[in-house]
Amino acid sequence: MVTIAPEYSQKRSGAYFTPADVAGSLVSWACRKSGDRMLDPSCGDGEFLRHHPNSVGIEQNPLSAHEAIARVPGALVHEGDFFAWAADTSERFEAAAGNPPFIRYQTFKGDMRRRALALCQQLGASFSGLASSWAPFLVATAGLLQRGGRMAFVVPAEIGHAPYAAPLLEYLVASFSTVKVVAVREKLFPGLSEDCWLLFADGYGSRTDAIEFTALDRFVGAFEPPPADIRIDVGEWRRVWNCRLRPYLLPASVRGLYAEVALNGESRRLGDFAQVGIGYVSGHNEFFHLRPSEAKRWKIPAALLQPSLRNGRAMPPGPLTSDTVAAWKQRDDKVLLLRLRRGDDLPLAVKQYLDSSAGHEARQGYKCRNRTPWYAVPDVQVPEYFMSYMSGRAANLVNNKAAVTCTNSVHGVHVRDAGLASKFLPSWSSPFVRLSCEIEGHALGGGMLKLEPREASRILFPGDPIAGRTSHEEVSDGVIRLQRWRHYAN
Ligand SMILES: C[S@@+](CC[C@H](N)C(=O)[O-])C[C@H]1O[C@@H](n2cnc3c(N)ncnc32)[C@H](O)[C@@H]1O
Repeated sequence: MVTIAPEYSQKRSGAYFTPADVAGSLVSWACRKSGDRMLDPSCGDGEFLRHHPNSVGIEQNPLSAHEAIARVPGALVHEGDFFAWAADTSERFEAAAGNPPFIRYQTFKGDMRRRALALCQQLGASFSGLASSWAPFLVATAGLLQRGGRMAFVVPAEIGHAPYAAPLLEYLVASFSTVKVVAVREKLFPGLSEDCWLLFADGYGSRTDAIEFTALDRFVGAFEPPPADIRIDVGEWRRVWNCRLRPYLLPASVRGLYAEVALNGESRRLGDFAQVGIGYVSGHNEFFHLRPSEAKRWKIPAALLQPSLRNGRAMPPGPLTSDTVAAWKQRDDKVLLLRLRRGDDLPLAVKQYLDSSAGHEARQGYKCRNRTPWYAVPDVQVPEYFMSYMSGRAANLVNNKAAVTCTNSVHGVHVRDAGLASKFLPSWSSPFVRLSCEIEGHALGGGMLKLEPREASRILFPGDPIAGRTSHEEVSDGVIRLQRWRHYAN
């Protein structure tokens, strides 16, 4: 049996190979003449090279590199890290095509990330340490094109919303005469939860002030990318849409309404009157949350137990009241957070609980080992509202009327301006605010909508009634459209 070194595991190295019709279409667009020299910076087993053997492929996994060599003898395949090779080579290419590895920042680290970010910096693109590997791959690849060269790549749909997609797209519009993004709703890789879009850039060495954008329900193999639905003005993309392409999945009328509301002086973003943050990280949920029956058995004083909203599923549809907490206790749910502070005089019962075998196990965890004392859970807060972090149909916002705290599985919303909060929050369930959640949040996979705190802070509330300018149906249709793009089945 062949054993694969951990760094080459499919997940850690982002090794998901591209279907033949997708690879064939991208290569036939990028390579205009048989004499064009093509680069695939992460060639895997050679699927892209196979369509145009006058190519150079780089692949870090020796097994895949050897498969590519055997499969496409006419191509030149280098085994190793693309960024190390790119920093050294003096070769320049007419074309590039491929499917870069999607390695998240937690795994994309060490020398490879240092080399990647340094190379991108030299080329004029600055990525933070939170960038996934694919974005630096594309910048470093573009830097190896000849003047007038072009490239065609599979990209994760994150290009439509991730903060690190902005420096990539800024680099592309400053380096190519045409930049086209094709959003594809149906999965290009049926086995993967990740959605993929396509990127086409032509005329390296020039610049453009527009991104051509097309939204397709499904990919159809072709020699040319589909015509653009819209030419996105880069200034508008920066100013109105926070450097995101996702809003362009909506019809122009709905986008126009949203932009108008965003620019209206009477409208407010959630972050204008409230602060959105995640709840506490206990370090060992099983140990730090007790059932009422456990608390009773251990004789833990009630003053040291704080009811806590553990996750979105426990969120009631309406306000969270003392009745909600009574129901949790009635069911003997694990909802009582052991809330101890540094310097507290610990009662004997608590000392015994901390000294139990479960307590000894809990203190070995990373979070507990790295705080003093290990049992004091930090950042326990009582927000005025809770908001779901991940949701199916719609993000939920509930009033915290029972002075409950929450874990980091939900957001706490702390009101800073009570007047604005009472003016705007009642419209939370309106079609417009739901549309805003869809626009400012992002698809997580599996049909879920995720709202990071920075995204939730941008949720937009109209100051004036919007009726008359666009119908509620149009706005509701916009919500359904974005739900379909995140694969939520209505
Ligand atoms: C998404 S797969 C694409 C493979 C091929 N282009 C295809 O689409 O069929 C990404 C490939 O990148 C390789 N890879 C990951 N990091 C790399 C690096 N730093 N340099 C070169 N190849 C790398 C992985 O081993 C994997 O084969």
